[in-house]
Amino acid sequence: MNIPPYFKQYKKMIEDYLEVVLANQDKNIDLILESARYSVMAGGKRIRGCMILSVGSLYSEPSRFLPLAAAVEMIHAYSLIHDDLPAMDDDDFRRGKPSNHKVYGEDMAILAGDYLMTKAYEVIAEGLLRNGFEAVNIVETITYLSKALGSNGMVGGQVMDIKSTKDICDISRLKKIHELKTGRFIRASFICPLLLCTGKDDLTGNFSLVEYADTLGLLFQVIDDILDETSDQETLGKPIGSDKENDKATYVSLMGLAEAKVFAKNVYDEMLDSLNLVEEKMNAVLMDFAKMVYERKN
Ligand code: IPE
Ligand code: IPE
Ligand code: MG
Ligand code: MG
Ligand code: MG
Repeated sequence: MNIPPYFKQYKKMIEDYLEVVLANQDKNIDLILESARYSVMAGGKRIRGCMILSVGSLYSEPSRFLPLAAAVEMIHAYSLIHDDLPAMDDDDFRRGKPSNHKVYGEDMAILAGDYLMTKAYEVIAEGLLRNGFEAVNIVETITYLSKALGSNGMVGGQVMDIKSTKDICDISRLKKIHELKTGRFIRASFICPLLLCTGKDDLTGNFSLVEYADTLGLLFQVIDDILDETSDQETLGKPIGSDKENDKATYVSLMGLAEAKVFAKNVYDEMLDSLNLVEEKMNAVLMDFAKMVYERKN
């Protein structure tokens, strides 16, 4: 993957911030903190956090957005810990290490997820206020993010994913699953920094950031489906063939691998075309993300 230098710098800033947020300050939460840290600090691309800092950087100093970027990565880690549980995808490997429940047990894995989700909102509210954002915009941001993660967002999408084997799912339902389980969170990662700075939930003019982010979210999950079939565990950091084993509806299981790749290429090309409509600075950032998501190997 061709990673731009600013992206590497943002990744480090987010990881340093996470270290501070998840430092042990309370003896009573030793075990849960250890379990949460195990998954959060295990790496990961930090792509959602970098989206926050990248869009934020077009409006203000990127470090002001760190509480939001770190919180988003904590929420993402919670979703992965729960996604791997035996009751869900039953995957034993994540980010190059045994999954959280393989090390700490299912009880602690569930609680680590619960902890990360609630702690994330504390970090957002306290940190963004401290960094001088307007209270009303912080409330709007929290509301927008919560909706993206709830029944009409990630959790709703995970429900549909769990309840849909490939025999009872068509492409339009699958598109909805991808839109909810992955797309809404990615949309929020682009829109929340905009909302924080401008109070607006999309760009004005003839380019929609929401539409771009939704297409990127779809592309992200289609590539994830493809990698589950074509990659290897060492590169991906998580088991391959998991979707097939679970009889999941994916772009690969419904379309076949070759057609899924053509579909991804078409989505990518259309995204690049639409970027002609956006102003130069924003264009560079959005182009980088499109390229990273399309070309990613893990
Ligand atoms: C994995 O997300 C879950 C999906 C939505 C496919 P990432 O591919 O961003 O996982 P990390 O953060 O890099 O581990
Ligand atoms: C999970 O999708 C999306 C989440 C909301 C966590 P997947 O189940 O395909 O993600 P991986 O492949 O396990 O990372
Ligand atoms: Mg899953
Ligand atoms: Mg999974
Ligand atoms: Mg997957």
